[in-house]
This record gives sequence, C-alpha cells and structure tokens, in this order.
Amino acid sequence: MTQKFSLNVNGTTQTVDADPDMPLLYALRNDLGLSNPHFGCGLSQCGACTVHINGAAVRSCATPMSAVGDGKVVTLAGLGTPEKPHPVQTAFIQEEVFQCGYCLNGWVMTTAALLKDKKNPTDAEIREGLSGLKCRCGTHMSILRAVKRAATMMG
Ligand code: FES
Ligand code: FES
Repeated sequence: MTQKFSLNVNGTTQTVDADPDMPLLYALRNDLGLSNPHFGCGLSQCGACTVHINGAAVRSCATPMSAVGDGKVVTLAGLGTPEKPHPVQTAFIQEEVFQCGYCLNGWVMTTAALLKDKKNPTDAEIREGLSGLKCRCGTHMSILRAVKRAATMMG
C-alpha cells in the first residue's frame, strides 16, 4: 500500500506516492526524473546509486522510502552545476577519469563525502574510503589521481 512521502531533494521538497519499502533510488529516477544515481547491482554492492543524506554517502538502492524521513537528500545534480562544479567534479574531469561513465555517480558522490570528513587523506585512506565501489572499465588508478587532485583543491 502506498503512502505520501515528502522528500527534500537538492534543496526542494517534493511529494512522492510510494510503498514504504520502495528503494529511494526508484523515487529519484522514476518519480523525480533524477537520472544521475544509477541502478547497478541493486544490492548495495557497487555504489552506482549513491546519494548524500544529511551529508553522508548512502546507497539509495538499499535505502527504503520509510528510512529517509526529513533527511536532506543531495544527488549528483545537486552537488554542482556545469557552471559551478564541485571540486571533485572538476578534478575527475581534469584527470579524464571515465570511460563508459556508468559508475561515475558513485565515485564522485562518495569522494565528496569522504573529503568533507577527511582533509588530505593518504592513499590507504582513499582506498579504504572508496573500497565498496566498482568500475568495470578499470579506471581505478586515474580515480586515485583525481581524488588526490580534489583533496588538494579542497585543502
Ligand atoms: S545499485 Fe546500489 S550499490 Fe549497486
Ligand atoms: S567508467 Fe565504465 S564502469 Fe566505470
């Protein structure tokens, strides 16, 4: 049975009719037309669906609507704009990280949350912080360079 949920997404409040168990990812993509969070595994194992809730990186495929409450949801589209990109977005572009780009959302959103909490992380801390993410195109070394570039920009 569906119920009404008020979602605060990228600074605006929008109402979605949904089953309480429905993943937040479906509301973002199908009801609100926000296509940056991607469906990868649907099992919390790849990170393609990552968004921020109250500043923390969470996997929206494994976050039921009933768990969002009045949390502030930010998607990649809310992190920065083409005119005013977030430093992580700028760094990933400058390092020409992506190939197919399917995983992009997860790496950028997780990196942004990581660098907010940890300035100038070591390589080991970056690897640990991003360890649950997958890129099937094998861009991991350029991702590492981009994260370090973003850390310098944000430091
Ligand atoms: S789609 Fe959510 S973690 Fe893979
Ligand atoms: S760039 Fe293709 S999956 Fe990561």
